[in-house]
Amino acid sequence: MRGRLITFEGIDGSGKTTQIRLLKSWLDSEGYDVVILREPGGTPIGEQIRAILLSTINVSMTDVTELLLFEAARAQLVSEVIRPAMEAGRYVICDRFIDSTVAYQGYGRGIDPDLVDRLNQLAIGDIVPDLTVWLDAPDATLRTRISRREGDADRLDREQDGFRERTLNGFARQKARYPERIHRIDTGRAKEETHRAIVDLVRRTLP
Ligand code: TYD
Repeated sequence: MRGRLITFEGIDGSGKTTQIRLLKSWLDSEGYDVVILREPGGTPIGEQIRAILLSTINVSMTDVTELLLFEAARAQLVSEVIRPAMEAGRYVICDRFIDSTVAYQGYGRGIDPDLVDRLNQLAIGDIVPDLTVWLDAPDATLRTRISRREGDADRLDREQDGFRERTLNGFARQKARYPERIHRIDTGRAKEETHRAIVDLVRRTLP
């Protein structure tokens, strides 16, 4: 029995962590064996790469270095954790995956999104998400949530406003490109409502 890979995407502050936790509880109660992962990270090598990527010391990091580090952490995660878990029939929920790289490093940083797509393919091989939940909301809602976390901002959180707009647009472009896989869920409402919408989506798309 092959497991499933569900990825959650969206800009910082879109509520991924809460919704992932709620979905895991629901899948647990339905009897699935669920594992939650986050990118970048999830393996010893990946966590070291994560520290390099997010450290506010690394202001001189080039955009290409950043892209390749995300892909390196991902290749490690797929090989060490995601593939074995899926082969064991488990449900894997990943907090960010390939679409974040297209949105942030592609549209955000200005690297050709097609090139990013190809590097994603190199990192994941045949492990393509069965379902991608893109959490999105009217911009005003997101802005309020994001401003609350400015105190603990990491290197990527510190990018200027234009970067966030481009990233947001990047997710929309990815959704247009992969409409079967990527589903937009409106997160600008009560979290229980958003959760119900996600459960409906999972029921519909992952028989
Ligand atoms: P983290 O604190 O884990 O994210 P979140 O805001 O989702 O809790 O930090 C991850 C940061 O890395 C986040 O700002 C998004 C960014 N990122 C990329 O730029 N490219 C990628 O491929 C991934 C996976 C994340």
